[in-house]
Amino acid sequence: MPKQIAHVIRDIEDRTALDSLSGPAASLVNRVTEPTAVKNALSGGWLGHALHPVLTDIPIGAWGMATLLDLTAGERGALAARRLVGFGVLTVVPTAASGASDWAGTIGGTQRVGLVHGMLNSAATVLQAASWVVRLTGRRRAGAVLSGVGLGLTGASAYLGGHLSYANGIGVNHTAFEEPTGRWTDVAALTALEEGRPLRADAAGVPVVLVRHGGTVDALSATCTHAGGPLDEGEVDAAGCIHCPWHGSAFRLADGEVTRGPASVAQPAWDVRISQDRVLVRAANA
Ligand code: FES
Repeated sequence: MPKQIAHVIRDIEDRTALDSLSGPAASLVNRVTEPTAVKNALSGGWLGHALHPVLTDIPIGAWGMATLLDLTAGERGALAARRLVGFGVLTVVPTAASGASDWAGTIGGTQRVGLVHGMLNSAATVLQAASWVVRLTGRRRAGAVLSGVGLGLTGASAYLGGHLSYANGIGVNHTAFEEPTGRWTDVAALTALEEGRPLRADAAGVPVVLVRHGGTVDALSATCTHAGGPLDEGEVDAAGCIHCPWHGSAFRLADGEVTRGPASVAQPAWDVRISQDRVLVRAANA
């Protein structure tokens, strides 16, 4: 990363004054997304990975095409460009909602960078909305300038978004680099497992969480796919799901499916075998 950009990002990360804004904003977002249906819809569990990066393509693409038309098609492209600008503004609503939901679970420097990312996007959206209005009144060139500046802000914001994902690991599957063994591996004595109480074990270098219920045992990878929380420190509910202690994601013990976000990727499930009072696991479908 160029030194100047790294310096700017570090400066944002260290700027604790932003917390007076991000703290209350994150609390508000957490309250709004408290219902499981809302959280799941915005997180992307139904999609199999985070929803926000998918949605961001839509306004960025629409506004990018509008500016391309402004630059190359002149009056001939005026109507299409205006429609693209308006369409992009409309699609900001679900895009921002999914991003805010993801952001509300972050902390510290990451949350500050996310706040600036959101502020830049908000400013860009205002400019694009103004552009749409200006274009409606026939001032195409003024609208094109507003859109161009807005697109520039969107680009800067996208850089911060990329930093959050690829440098800070927000939204990535935290079990992606695990290599679960396909061999049956002895991980614990059955007697060490208390009914419904998670137990952490090691399966050839991969942490797993074991939960006993009745005569059977379920096993999932213990590192939460959302942000790496320790599932073995979470709680098991009556529906057979384990809740991550960090942000409250819930996973079905039987197969690792997400039943509540913010996690969007299922927890890796393990096959379990009981042999002579020992618990053995191997990667599911090995
Ligand atoms: S680490 Fe965020 S829900 Fe588990």
